[in-house]
Amino acid sequence: MPRIVVVMRQADGTETTRVIEKARWLDGESLQSLALDEGLRIGGACGGMGLCTTCRVEIIEGAESLSRLTREEKDFRAQNLLKETERLACQCSPTGDVTLRYDP
Ligand code: FES
Repeated sequence: MPRIVVVMRQADGTETTRVIEKARWLDGESLQSLALDEGLRIGGACGGMGLCTTCRVEIIEGAESLSRLTREEKDFRAQNLLKETERLACQCSPTGDVTLRYDP
């Protein structure tokens, strides 16, 4: 079962951490959905369609444990709107442990 560590950077510069460890895991469930199940809202302006980048997260560890880039993510990277270390939480799903950071 993948373990997701979520580091949230607060406005005052401090960081808080939450760990998501679910007993039941849907294959292909997005990071955004998993976080929301734990009460963490990561973006979502476009309803998880990969169109807005409000769910952008920085992957600190475990990038290799995420599903492949979607066409939408590749398009944003090509436009320099998504860094190499970033993913769209609505577009990727974990297959192993991942640590990510975002600004809530
Ligand atoms: S919620 Fe809009 S791109 Fe993910």
